[in-house]
Amino acid sequence: MFQIKRIETEPFDDQKPGTSGLRKPVRTFMKPHYLENFIQSIFDSMDGGAEGKSLVIGGDGRFYNNRAIQTIIKMAIANRVKRLLVGRDGFLSTPATSCIIRKYGLSGGIILSASHNPGGEEGDFGVKFNIENGGPAPQKVTDKIFEKSLEIKRFFMAEGPDFPIDAIKTEKVMDTTIEVIDPVKDYCDLMEGLFDFDRIRGLFRSGFRMAYDGLHAITGIYARELFVNRLGAPDSFLRNCDPLPDFGGGHPDPNLKYARELVDIMYSEDAPDFGAASDGDGDRNMILGKKFFVTPSDSVAIISAHSRNVPGYRDGLSGVARSMPTSCALDQVARELGIKCYETPTGWKFFGNLLDKGLITICGEESFGTGSNHIREKDGLWAVLFWLNILSVEKTSVSELVKGHWQKYGRNYYTRHDFEGVSTDGAKRMMESLEGRLSTLAGMEFLEKKVTIADNFSYKDPVDGSISKNQGIRIIFDDGSRLIYRLSGTGTKGATIRIYIEGYTKKERELYQDPQVYLKDMIALSRELSEIEKFTGRKEPTVIT
Ligand code: G1P
Ligand code: ZN
Repeated sequence: MFQIKRIETEPFDDQKPGTSGLRKPVRTFMKPHYLENFIQSIFDSMDGGAEGKSLVIGGDGRFYNNRAIQTIIKMAIANRVKRLLVGRDGFLSTPATSCIIRKYGLSGGIILSASHNPGGEEGDFGVKFNIENGGPAPQKVTDKIFEKSLEIKRFFMAEGPDFPIDAIKTEKVMDTTIEVIDPVKDYCDLMEGLFDFDRIRGLFRSGFRMAYDGLHAITGIYARELFVNRLGAPDSFLRNCDPLPDFGGGHPDPNLKYARELVDIMYSEDAPDFGAASDGDGDRNMILGKKFFVTPSDSVAIISAHSRNVPGYRDGLSGVARSMPTSCALDQVARELGIKCYETPTGWKFFGNLLDKGLITICGEESFGTGSNHIREKDGLWAVLFWLNILSVEKTSVSELVKGHWQKYGRNYYTRHDFEGVSTDGAKRMMESLEGRLSTLAGMEFLEKKVTIADNFSYKDPVDGSISKNQGIRIIFDDGSRLIYRLSGTGTKGATIRIYIEGYTKKERELYQDPQVYLKDMIALSRELSEIEKFTGRKEPTVIT
């Protein structure tokens, strides 16, 4: 039925995978040979090629997902992959893919997603490659894939009819055993083993109300299985939980700007007790209480502080980690628990080595990513279940829980200001100018605080010794305040400058202010020191979190 073809091709020079794989407009991926070249480069980068390997593929359901999956199935057959698992209907969230790679001991996985970027014909598409530990490919692997993509001359394709993926089944095609699997079961089983489902069921029975927003992306199918089928919640707790190729025209990013519908519900008079959302491919999360937003930096700290009340973490944490721009709230908890808090560059992949070596159990980023050693990706629904488990034990509201945390540990006031779509040149010059002045900033006083560290963050991986330089400019003050500047590595249009502004207080009367008000002077200082307006012509950020 299938005919293996060797097809001549020419390299594209723009297939360099970033921190989250190769992400481009869907139109780019639709160019003849564009996807094929990249997939073949992934296969060619493997030791001995893809022959005999075991892989899983699935995606977040965005436009082009199904076409791409058919192409990859046919290329996997032609490259003599031994075992190929495919999520039914082409669905798999990023965390579920990581779970499946680990559970079945696969060689790797291919996830089709541009994460939180918009989908549809005019939106973005992406290919991520995860390795055998279930985590994103590390730089040495992505470098090799890029190298292969630059020298590619041919790819292999099994030409024939599409392989039906709308029902669970196993079929051998030439050398390849293709298994269409239930995309939700393995992941939901893993969650059931980590959290106290009886207690959460009890919480839902007690009249506790929740609003979960799937933003018409992949997590809707997982949320239905977890919350409705396994935890007994009514269907009315779920919103936008049917995946759509264009995500209903929305931007599947769970933050205060793009999850507006959920935010409006949670700030209304009749708000439910708990609100949550995930992004396109399911690795991010946002947690809300009644008229209350939990910053991701606080969330990872609170999760860690309460981890002993959650079955999967009852034995304690070996250590924790946060990305450099994430607030230092987690450091306060680590100190109290007597464990180490590692500080890594932005991007989930830096947690992989620490998790593999057992140096950390829980980790998180300010950008709505939280996770643990249960898989090697951040995990949106895991964080939501963690919160539900904590609330079911503490029997208190989200806001009371967070306020109690601040009273105990002090509050790390935190906000991120994004300047999106600025000129690449202006952004670069701003960073260079700031960097050039770092040595003069050290020791200076601003707002009655003294600068203790002013540098460009560099990270030495404690496991493999690799060094990552230029990970963001840090200006740290003697009272724990920080200003961090970095350029986004995931944007697709122009440059995005991110400024992270942090302050710390333990004074009870200062604990309950609006961060934008509390940090007003630090925000002004962040503009002044960087001269952002001079370099970019921008006075105000496009997104404030
Ligand atoms: C952003 C986030 C980062 C996250 C990445 C992938 O990267 O800041 O924490 O790991 O998306 O989800 P950035 O655009 O800042 O480079
Ligand atoms: Zn994502």
